[in-house]
Amino acid sequence: MNLNIIAVFFSFLLSGLLYQPAYAAGDKLSLDPVEIDLFDKASLQRGARLFMNYCISCHSASYMRYNRMGKDLGLSDEQVKESLMFASEKVGETMTIAMRDEDAKNWFGVVPPDLSVISRARGPDWLYSYFRQFYVDDAKIMGTNNLVFKDASMPHVLWQQQGYLQQDTEGHLVPTPEQQQTAERYDAMIRDLVNFIAYVGEPSKIQRLTLGKWVLIYLAVFFMVAYPMKKVFWEDIR
Ligand code: HEC
Repeated sequence: MNLNIIAVFFSFLLSGLLYQPAYAAGDKLSLDPVEIDLFDKASLQRGARLFMNYCISCHSASYMRYNRMGKDLGLSDEQVKESLMFASEKVGETMTIAMRDEDAKNWFGVVPPDLSVISRARGPDWLYSYFRQFYVDDAKIMGTNNLVFKDASMPHVLWQQQGYLQQDTEGHLVPTPEQQQTAERYDAMIRDLVNFIAYVGEPSKIQRLTLGKWVLIYLAVFFMVAYPMKKVFWEDIR
């Protein structure tokens, strides 16, 4: 009995210690932190829209079904069909893409990876920084490079929203005054996008967090009942 409790305690401790996003080891990038909030449905919906408009042409998210996403984000099947489905026909389908691997290789040199669990591999801060740190690099075929992911062969697909940043001689990215004005809006947009990608990486987390709260409340109530009862029972035994 006691051993069980100790085992449970240590497995909790270990899972806390061992959970590190994969990029952590030996990485010296300075990443900008982002707060994600899986309960912010409006943000998740905006992120989903961005994802469907700008990403699903190249990247699949093949662990995720459209109708599951709709349910979690508070959208009806009709709403999902109307505003979020451009790549598939049926809401029960997973988020796959039409691009063939050979074509992708010809165009980009690599196949754009499936993004189902990318948030767990890279972590939200990495993603948030990545989408904000594309810059002009004429030496590249795409004309851009990225501070977070050096020599990424992905084009800066959100250039219309951010513009193209230039690098100064020390390697820092310098926005024009115009870009500075829209930076806040762009950052908010990227936060929505990362929020959505984090949701896709762990869709049942929303339910788990909600359930966890109820379990704790239940335990607290149970304790309030059980403790006085224990006292009463033991009175006779003593
Ligand atoms: C035109 C095709 C294209 C579009 C559109 C596109 N990407 Fe990419 N993306 C790529 C390619 C190609 C790579 C691989 C880069 C490499 O390995 O050099 C990539 C890489 C990535 C990575 C890094 C994956 C890793 O290896 O860790 C992430 C994250 C990503 N894309 C997210 C997105 C998101 C989110 C969008 C939408 C805003 C998007 N991409 C739109 C082609 C695209």
